Amino acid sequence: MDKYYLTTPIYYVNAAPHIGHTYTTIAGDVIKRYKQMQGFDVVLTTGTDEHGIKIQRSAEKAGQTPEAFTTAVANEFSATWRKFGFALDHEQRTTDPKHAANVQRLFKDCLANGYIYKGSYTGYYSVVNEAFVPDAKEGDVDPETGQPLEKITEENYFFKLSAFREKLIALHENNPDFLQPETRRNEVLAFLKQDLADLSITRTTIRWGIPVPDEPGHVFYVWFDALMAYHTAVVEQGRWPADLHLIGKEIVRFHAVYWPAFLMAAGWELPKKIFAHGWLLFDNNKMSKSRGNIVRPEPIRQAMGADALRYYLLREIVFGADGNFAYDAMVTRYNADLANGLGNLASRTLSMIQQYRGGVIPALPAEATLPLATNIANATAAAIDAYEKFEFSKGLEAIWQLIGAADKYIVEQAPWKLFKAKEEDKLNEVLYSIADALRAATLLAAPVLPESTAKIWRLLGYATPLTAERFGQLEAGQLPAGQAIPPVEPVFPRLEMQPTIDKMNELEEIEKARQDLLLGKTPEPVTPADPGGIPLASQITIDDFVKVDLRVGQVKFAEKVKGSDKLLHMKIDIGEAEPRTIVAGISQVYDPESMLGRKVVIVANLAPRKLKGIESHGMIVAASTADGKPTVAGFLEDVPIGARLK
Ligand code: ME8
Ligand code: MG
Repeated sequence: MDKYYLTTPIYYVNAAPHIGHTYTTIAGDVIKRYKQMQGFDVVLTTGTDEHGIKIQRSAEKAGQTPEAFTTAVANEFSATWRKFGFALDHEQRTTDPKHAANVQRLFKDCLANGYIYKGSYTGYYSVVNEAFVPDAKEGDVDPETGQPLEKITEENYFFKLSAFREKLIALHENNPDFLQPETRRNEVLAFLKQDLADLSITRTTIRWGIPVPDEPGHVFYVWFDALMAYHTAVVEQGRWPADLHLIGKEIVRFHAVYWPAFLMAAGWELPKKIFAHGWLLFDNNKMSKSRGNIVRPEPIRQAMGADALRYYLLREIVFGADGNFAYDAMVTRYNADLANGLGNLASRTLSMIQQYRGGVIPALPAEATLPLATNIANATAAAIDAYEKFEFSKGLEAIWQLIGAADKYIVEQAPWKLFKAKEEDKLNEVLYSIADALRAATLLAAPVLPESTAKIWRLLGYATPLTAERFGQLEAGQLPAGQAIPPVEPVFPRLEMQPTIDKMNELEEIEKARQDLLLGKTPEPVTPADPGGIPLASQITIDDFVKVDLRVGQVKFAEKVKGSDKLLHMKIDIGEAEPRTIVAGISQVYDPESMLGRKVVIVANLAPRKLKGIESHGMIVAASTADGKPTVAGFLEDVPIGARLK
C-alpha cells in the first residue's frame, strides 16, 4: 500500500489551543481521511513546541517549572484534539528525550559536513517570534506584533545558510509544487534573490532547550529544534520524508528556506511538499494569542458539533487565503448547508423509504436508468480533483451541487404523488436514485464531516463503517437494493441564531477562565470592573445588605401585560407554596417564551406594589446598560430554586 505522511505545525505551549490551531489540524485530518479513502496508508502527526525563552517566561509567569507547565499545556492540546476526534497518529513533544537525541544527530551531521561553525553575534531579538530581526536597530519593535525587541550578543554556533542559496533557488524552481500556493513560492523566491545571512542556531542566554553536544551552556535555537519534530515523530517507523507539511503562512520562511537547508546540510531527505494556508481573522486582525483576540474550539464543538466547525472553516474560506471568522456566519452556513442541505436530503429520503417501502431500499426497476448518474459522476470528479489540490471549498461546492440536484429531482418527481397514484416502478426508481445520490454525497463529504456522514451511512443501513469505503467504488448504482434501514434520526437539527451565539459566548468565558487557571493567569473578571461611569451608591454595611433577601426563582409563567409595551407579568417559583406574581419592565428585551423556565434572581422581601392593576410581590434583578435596556441576572451553573444570595 502506498504510504503518505503529513504533519501540522507543532504548536507553542505558551497558550491553550484556539481555532487557528484547530484550523490546520482539521485540514490535516481531512487530508488524512481523504487519502485513506484513496487507498493510502496514512500517518498524520501534530505536536507541541515546548522550548525557548517565550515558553520559559510563560512558565515563570505561571509560577510553574517549565516541565510542569509545558506538560499541562501539551495535555490541554491533546485533550482538545481528542474531543474533536482527530485521526492523529502521534503528538510529538519537543521535550521528549527521543527528540533531543534526534536534534543532536542533525547537528552532528551538519557539523561533520562542514556547515556549522562557531562565532559571535549581536542582534535584536523578537521574543514573540523567537528570531533575530534582520537590520533592526535600537528602539525598533517587532514588525509583526509591535512588541519590543531585545538586544542580544551571543557566542554561538552558526549554520551556513549562505551556502544554500543556489540550491534552495533550484529546489523551488525545479519543483514548482514544493511550496504552495503559488504566491508563497514567489515570496520565497524573491527572498532568495538576496544574500542569505548565516543563522545562529545555539543560545547561551537561556537554559530551557535541548543541550548542544559537548558544549555546556549552549542549547539549540528553537527552530533548529522544532522543525526536527517532524522527523522525530516517525523516526521509529522509518516514514521520513514527509509528503506534506501543512502550515500557516507566517512560518513559510522557516519551512521553505531553513528546513530544507538543514536537511541538505545533513544529507537527509527533503519533505515533498509544503502548503501554507492563510490566517483566520477576527475583526480583520489575525487571531493570535499575543493579540488576545482568540476564539476557542471547544465551546463551538459543544454548541454546534465538531463537523459544523470543520464545514464552516473549509467551505467559507478558500484554503490558502485569509478569511474572517464570525459566529453568525457559522450558524448561517450550518443552517443553510448542513441542516437544510445534507441533513434535509437525508431525512427526506430516509423518511420516504420508511413510509413508502417499509424501511427497505427498493431495487431499481429493470428498464430504469439512473437519472442522477451524471450528477454523481460530475460531483465525484470535481470533489476528488479539489481534494487533491486542497481546494476544499470548491470540493464542497461540487458535492452540494449534487445535493441540490437531488433536491430538485425530488420536487420534480414528487414521490408522494407517485405513492398515491400507486406508480410502484417509478416510485422505486425515484427512491433508489435519491438514496443512491445521498450515498454518493455522504461518501464524498466524509473527509470533511466524519461524524455526521458516519451517522448517515448507518442510517442508510450499512453495517460496515464508512471509513472502510474507498472512492474507487464511487459511481452511481452502488447502493445495495434490499438493504434495510434503521429508524430515521435527525442529523443536523436546525439551530436558532441568537441562542446558539449566546451559548458559545457563555461557554467561551467559562473555557477561558478554566484555561487561564491552568496557565496560571489570574482570570480576567467576566464583566469589566469599571461600573461604566455610573457613580457608586453610598457605602453600606453588611447588616444593611442582609436586609435584602435575594432568592433564586424559576419563571413558571410569563405573558405581556396588556396595554403596556414594557411590562412582563410572570409567576416565579422561589420555593414557596405558590409561585410569586412579579411584574417587571423587561418586555422590550425579553419575550415571554424566552423567560419561561429561566432561573432568575428575585428581591423577595420588597413591599408589594401595583403595576397596571397587577400586584407585584418582588422585583427581578437585572443589569441596566447605557441604552437603558435591562439584562436579567442569571447563573452559569445550575442552582436550586429558593437558594439565597448573600
Ligand atoms: O508557529 N489563522 O506555533 P504557533 C490560521 N511552534 N492558522 C493559525 C492562526 C490563525 N489566526 N493562528 C495559528 C508556531 N494558526 C511554531 C511552529 S513548526 C515546526 C513550529 C496555526 O503556536 C497555523 O498553522 O504560533 C500556524 O502556522 C500555527 O498555528 C502557528 O502555531
Ligand atoms: Mg504563532
